[in-house]
Amino acid sequence: MERFWSVSRRAFLLGAGATAVAARAFGRGHAMRRIAPNRASEAFDPDVELDLICKRGETPILAGAPTRVWRYVGNLIKGPANALTAAPDAYLGPLLRFSKGQKVRIRLRNELPEETITHWHGLHVPMLMDGHPTAAIDPGETYVYEFEIRNRAGMYFYHPHTHEKTATQVYRGLAGAIIVEDEEERALGLPSGEFEIPLVIQDRSFDDDNQLAYGGDMHTSMFGFYGDRVLVNGRCDFSLDVASRAYRLRILNGSNARIYKLCWDDRTPLTVIGVDGGLLERAETRPYVMLAPAERVDLLVDFSGRPQGAKLTMLSGAFYGLIPPMAQRMMGSDLAMGEEFPLFTAQVTKASSDSWKLPKKLSTIRRFRQEDIANLDNPIPIAITMAHMAMLLNGRPYDHDDIEPRERIPVDTTQLIEIFHERGGMGMGMGMGGMGDMGMAGMGRMEMMGGGGMMRGRMGGMGMERGMGRGMGMMGMMSMAHPIHLHGQQFEIIERRFEGDEDAYASIRDGFIDSGLKDTVLVAPGERLRIVKPFGDFKGRFMYHCHNLEHEDAGMMREFSVE
Ligand code: C2O
Ligand code: CU
Ligand code: CU
Repeated sequence: MERFWSVSRRAFLLGAGATAVAARAFGRGHAMRRIAPNRASEAFDPDVELDLICKRGETPILAGAPTRVWRYVGNLIKGPANALTAAPDAYLGPLLRFSKGQKVRIRLRNELPEETITHWHGLHVPMLMDGHPTAAIDPGETYVYEFEIRNRAGMYFYHPHTHEKTATQVYRGLAGAIIVEDEEERALGLPSGEFEIPLVIQDRSFDDDNQLAYGGDMHTSMFGFYGDRVLVNGRCDFSLDVASRAYRLRILNGSNARIYKLCWDDRTPLTVIGVDGGLLERAETRPYVMLAPAERVDLLVDFSGRPQGAKLTMLSGAFYGLIPPMAQRMMGSDLAMGEEFPLFTAQVTKASSDSWKLPKKLSTIRRFRQEDIANLDNPIPIAITMAHMAMLLNGRPYDHDDIEPRERIPVDTTQLIEIFHERGGMGMGMGMGGMGDMGMAGMGRMEMMGGGGMMRGRMGGMGMERGMGRGMGMMGMMSMAHPIHLHGQQFEIIERRFEGDEDAYASIRDGFIDSGLKDTVLVAPGERLRIVKPFGDFKGRFMYHCHNLEHEDAGMMREFSVE
């Protein structure tokens, strides 16, 4: 049996885990219907063509034995040399660099021991090219993607989207970054080449033989996986040697569930120039930036004026209230979410006289006007709900055959969507009912956690105190933040409202960058967001889900049918 599933010091295994619990509750767990693997089309003339092979491998991560991983290995067949850059000595997939307007063909070959399929997170592509779970391929099979890059310049993310296996496949190492360039961005002359650095942040746990450990129990499924070690670009204790000049750091949170609060140890403010869907219109200065799974942030960091030898450490700063205190204890990571810990360091090792000035205007974002919105008085709800100890959307688990009337969207319309936490009602009732699933052990642990949470003072956070105070019981106690992701075109966040524990909220509220185009948005407990999203060009099924990958796999996913 592979170590991956073995019981590590802290991770413990409860039978087949929570996916099985959810499966029992909802009759899920059955195989997904399949479409035939897409083949190359004669009519498509690619500017860039590459092979991407999913395979097993080994890589040094910790001192001593190498770690067995699953990884993407790339091979450029046609196109500019910088279209594919292998990650040196790391499991991370190659960095793909495309230009807007390019036609891209990617041959995905599955050399894993199980089915898989890859999704190009943030790219606006037809359903057949989107990595839908029905497109999964078996070991030995190849799926050919052909699409045009329609996105504006930005950093995107490729990863598996396999039915109920996304979390474990990403965890084993299948993930990579995509950078899209366009003319608007090139004209700015932002730091490039060695001065533009993509950074993928992930967390992992290891067993005593340096192999990846993954809990896979019910708590992992309920709250997500939280590792003991932070990896940047697949490496521990990551550090950058920099010159005393301006850099562009393009950061992607590739973690399964962990949310980071990016800030420099000397509290130098962060200059944010972009988010998920590319450049902001103007740079924004923030004391810190919250970065949830799958979110990206583009930072302009100016090391000029720093002496040689100067060292700056990017931390994840302290925050409260994004996860229930009981979950902190149950998830068994040494690195509690919300505790301060280092992510990577940057050390000035070279002097540079390159001076560079940040342009006032970075880009133009086409803003939606009220008259563009098809459903101004009737927003589409995405309610974060809980039932039988599983987090769901609108109270329903993922099912490819279950499309609600409000999930049917006419193509080429722009829709108003409201994302919120459902309080009370069915969510609470079913949540309470779900207690049975946890049994006595669950109850005991919960009381213990509650006490522990109080001892940690503000750890109680928005969910708990507020929930308990209003008699919400389980529902309040279970409130946590969810990074909600919608496939297809990027959206605009037009409103973020909060009602809850102001103290805890104060530790995160300045870290949301809502002014750019987004495809993933963190919804903290007590928050209610309104977003405006276009559903242009392509008909078909487009998923929306929580990007806490354990939540996604446990059914916190739905589909829009664009028709
Ligand atoms: Cu990055 Cu549907 O996912
Ligand atoms: Cu996506
Ligand atoms: Cu979630």
